[in-house]
This record gives sequence, structure tokens and C-alpha cells, in this order.
Amino acid sequence: MRYQVIGRSGVNASRVALGVMRMDTKTAPEAARIVRTVVDRGVTFFDTADCYGAGESSRRFARALQDAGIDRDDIVVQTKFGIYRDPTSNAITRYDFSKSHLLAALDDELRNLDTDHVDFVLLHRPDTLVDLDELAETFDVLESSGKVLHFGVSNVNPVQVSMLQSALSQRLEVNQLQFGLGHTGMIRQEFHVNMDDPASVDHDGGLISYSRLQHMTIQAWSPFQVGFFEGVFLDNPEYARLNEVLERVAQRCHVTKSAIAVAWILRHPANMQVLLGSMTPSRLADMIAGADVELSAQEWYDLYTAAGNDLP
Ligand SMILES: NC(=O)c1ccc[n+]([C@@H]2O[C@H](COP(=O)([O-])OP(=O)(O)OC[C@H]3O[C@@H](n4cnc5c(N)ncnc54)[C@H](OP(=O)(O)O)[C@@H]3O)[C@@H](O)[C@H]2O)c1
Repeated sequence: MRYQVIGRSGVNASRVALGVMRMDTKTAPEAARIVRTVVDRGVTFFDTADCYGAGESSRRFARALQDAGIDRDDIVVQTKFGIYRDPTSNAITRYDFSKSHLLAALDDELRNLDTDHVDFVLLHRPDTLVDLDELAETFDVLESSGKVLHFGVSNVNPVQVSMLQSALSQRLEVNQLQFGLGHTGMIRQEFHVNMDDPASVDHDGGLISYSRLQHMTIQAWSPFQVGFFEGVFLDNPEYARLNEVLERVAQRCHVTKSAIAVAWILRHPANMQVLLGSMTPSRLADMIAGADVELSAQEWYDLYTAAGNDLP
């Protein structure tokens, strides 16, 4: 496993992290085995959110730590908030950065996680109705109470980061974004600047370059998914060329294709973290092996083009 400092927080954590979004579907013994598997392979960073399984994923994760005999203070725990689910229908009906919502959500999440603080909290998705002064007050309360040590955002573009940062006393250390060989838009846009083809459409405002400039850590979510939870690209016939190149590089490195897909994200000098979402211990072990693989620049480009991208 390799480790990195998250943003400029000073927190050193594993470059491969476990996301527990899907942990609500697992039994307590299964969850404990998952957590034990990744910790034994050097993972020290865990990501959750108050809305995953309506809080059940975080509860299951806290119980899994206990059952696996892992001390909460030996790991880094991150959660996300700011998405409002209607308690009756369980549907997402708004994003909500109001002080009352965020403070109550964080308290609920601390109970779910059975802890008195989280190391990081992220605003999950942008709330266009955000009142910046109110958000600044909220972050001050969360910080001074000791309930949150560090802050970040998710699914926001550079202008949105700048706007939020302008109001806050705390640094935004993290931006969590979908990224992987099945979702390469942030890279494609860097290659198609000032062109007229469809790939030149700017969907994110230069997020990778901006994050590097600001020393924000990009956390790559859904690193194996195609589109928005449409399935994985591994062994997917629609990604035959990508699977061929993954296999070729995997053979050279004596690991699996899934390890190479992780290594591809880590090879980028933006110093990203990868959030794994599998709940299968054997798959997780294969994926984590990618943290110790070093791809050449040519292999990185070969995988990028095999995923269906061009080089103009
Ligand atoms: N900020 C955001 O908006 C946001 C959004 C989504 C996710 N996230 C974070 O990112 C984390 C990871 O997301 P994710 O779970 O979508 O990540 P992922 O690792 O891309 O996908 C995991 C899913 O793919 C399946 N899978 C993995 N390898 C497979 C294979 N070889 N064949 C078939 N199925 C395979 C897994 O099944 P098995 O469990 O059966 O292995 C699991 O259902 C989440 O836990 C969460 O922390 C953040």
C-alpha cells in the first residue's frame, strides 16, 4: 500500500480507500470480514455518507470495526452530508446546506458511526440555494465542537469550490468525483481544449488542473462503473479492447485486471485516492494490489485510448 497526505490537512492515509455505500446489504459477519480484509492490506481510509442505506451503511460499518477488533482511532473516517431524503418516501427531494439540516445530520451520523468525531466531512452534492454566511457559521460550529477535523466537497466544479472557499475559514481539502477507466471525462476535456468536436465540451471547468493547483485531493468514486451505476467495464463485451489492454498490462505486472484499473487512477500525478466499492473480499484484495503497481506513461495512455478515447 502507498500513502498520501490528504489535501494540505496533514492527515496521511492510504491511497486506496474503502467506500461503504453498499455495506447496508451485508450481514454483520460479512461486513466485519470486508473491513478486516482491507485493513490487513494497508487500507486506513473509509468513506461513507449519512444517506447510504438511510444511515444503515454507516451503522453496519461501525459495528464491523468493532467485530473485526479495529480501533476507530487507528483509521481515518470520512462522511458526507447535505442530501435530504424524505423520511416517509426515502426519496431524495432536495440538497440542503442549511445550518439546521447539516448540524442535525452530522449528529445523527456520529451516532450511526458510534464516534465523537469524523476526520473529514464533505458536502455531498452542490446546493444551489446555499447561504454562504450560514454555511461558514455551520463549519465554525462543527470545527469548534471538535466533531469534524477537516472539510471537503463532492461533485463540484472549480468555480463552485472557489465560491464556497471564499466564505469559509476552513480549507476544502477534498473533492470527491466520479473517475475511472469507465468515466474519463475529466481527462478527455484536458486534451480537447479549444476544439470543435463533441469531446471538447467542457463538463467540469478544468477540475484536474484546478485540484492540482489548489492541492486538493480528488477522490475517485465508482472507479469500476460505467456511467451512473450501469455496471462494471471489467469483462464487459462493450469494453473488449480495454479488457485486452488491461489483461496485457496485468500479465506484465503479475496482478489482475482490477489491480491495473486501480493503478491507472493512482498513476496520474494529481495524486488521487481511489474509493473501492466492492463488498467481495477476494475482489477487494485483487484491487488493492494495484496500489503497489507502477504503470509506465505509455501503458497509462494505452489504457486511456483502449477505453474509447482519442488523442487529437
Ligand atoms: N460522492 C458521490 O457522489 C459518490 C457516488 C457514488 C459512490 N461514492 C463512493 O464511492 C464508493 C465506491 O462506489 P461504487 O461502489 O460504485 O464503486 P465500484 O468499485 O466502481 O463498484 C462496486 C460495485 O461493482 C461491483 N463489481 C466490482 N467488480 C466487479 C466485477 N469484476 N464483476 C462484477 N461486479 C463487480 C461490486 O460488486 P460486489 O460488491 O459484488 O463485488 C459493487 O456492486 C462508494 O462506496 C462511496 O463511498 C461517492
